[in-house]
Amino acid sequence: MLMLCQSLNGERINHFFSPVANLQQVISSSPAGYALQEPLAYNHPTHYYAAMLRSNWRQQQPLLLLLALLPAPLPAWVTPMTANALAFDQWIRAEFIDLNTQLELQYQQQRDRANVEGIGEQQKQQLKAAGEALIGQLVAEGNTDDGFDQAFNLLGNVGLFMAACRRHEITEPSRETCSPLINGSALAMQIGASLGVIPRFATAHLTTHNQAINGTYKCFTRLPCEALFIDYNTRGILAYKRAADALLKILPLGISHPLTADLLKVAKRALIDVRESNKKLHSQLAADEFFYQVRPYYKPHYVGAHIYRGANAGDFAGINVIDMLLGLCFANETYYAQILVDKFLYMMPEDQAILRDCMRRPALMDDFLKATGQIKATWYQHHLRLFLEVCRCHGHIARQHQNLLIDKFISTPANELAAKHLDKLTASGPPLQTLVDELKVLTDHRTAAKSNNFHTRYNDIKLLNSTLRKK
Ligand code: HEM
Repeated sequence: MLMLCQSLNGERINHFFSPVANLQQVISSSPAGYALQEPLAYNHPTHYYAAMLRSNWRQQQPLLLLLALLPAPLPAWVTPMTANALAFDQWIRAEFIDLNTQLELQYQQQRDRANVEGIGEQQKQQLKAAGEALIGQLVAEGNTDDGFDQAFNLLGNVGLFMAACRRHEITEPSRETCSPLINGSALAMQIGASLGVIPRFATAHLTTHNQAINGTYKCFTRLPCEALFIDYNTRGILAYKRAADALLKILPLGISHPLTADLLKVAKRALIDVRESNKKLHSQLAADEFFYQVRPYYKPHYVGAHIYRGANAGDFAGINVIDMLLGLCFANETYYAQILVDKFLYMMPEDQAILRDCMRRPALMDDFLKATGQIKATWYQHHLRLFLEVCRCHGHIARQHQNLLIDKFISTPANELAAKHLDKLTASGPPLQTLVDELKVLTDHRTAAKSNNFHTRYNDIKLLNSTLRKK
């Protein structure tokens, strides 16, 4: 069902739609449907209102009165969208995906699968022209004040379009000094800056904040490998978030509180879920499909005058909340603080707030170290054992990410990549080996490995282990 209605403040026409409805069909059959069929003529919400008033107002009066009685606030999924934003969203969910899929299938036919030059020129031009035209209307409309959810969704759509242009080398940072996508950059920067996030698509757009319509969420292509990747990324992120939430809830209770054991068990279970999900991703996703058909959409590219790195599955607060609350990584160490500073704008604002808050919290490990006087207490033995199991799980997943995921899906296929494409592998990002080395330092912290080069919790974990009674 789709209805158009006047919002309670009288300024906004909302689109209500259920995922089961055929949107286009319902739009044309709605009382003010003609307003939506002519989005250019009614490119501002107040224009809808005027259109609705000019249309058969008397017939609609009972409906409007009924809707005006709806309780506020409206459910989260019922958020306003202008006709231009809706048209762009529909394009992203349909033609955009078709064009990307057609292009991927053509690249796949080649002996050199990494080459995109001179392939599918017609589809590339169609993609660029249609995307720019739709975004141009949004820029002209100048209306991005549709609430956080809609603005973030719109930013995601612009971001997906710009990332696809990068993937197909319609844009390519090595031959540019700024983005040639003028409208896309303008809209992305306007929304990104106003929301306090980067002006490109972020991980959340494709994972945790990717609304499905009739069971289908947004993605770049219809290729099963991409769906597999997004599903397992989302599962991993949601499970990490569950672990982080549980650890955060321990803070006001303290490590000796009886329910702290429950929370540590929740955290451990959630981390096991991440581990199992990553294991399945590793076994089910084909390395070449990921490398040639999924990864290229995550490359860095220009937005305006700056290059922004691609999104990665670590762009949420939970992973660092776990690092810091367990006490394995330190917000006051330059190398780790740099990671946090660099990723803030890649996260949702709510995640930014969680991380900011967490950076000033004490680590649970320090609390256990201070409590070694309680070594004989039942709570100490029970909770410390659980705490160390959580630490072990966290370290295990870090090693798994390094040894299974990065190795199979990036390092090994990169070895086979034709030399001429190697410079494009991490274009504008650090060289692959540097990236792998940086992630290894993180893994060493998370596993509390012995190190002569930097501070890890190797000795502290050893000490805590020594206070556990043998079972
Ligand atoms: C095909 C699978 C995957 C590959 C090839 C992969 C590769 C990478 C790479 C190369 C980075 C570093 C990016 C950069 O610094 O620019 C990274 C970061 C990260 N990835 Fe993955 N990843 C995969 C799946 C996942 C999944 C499923 C998760 C679980 C949520 C995950 C969690 C992370 C985290 C947390 C980071 C940020 C660095 C950190 O804190 O460890 N990754 N990944």
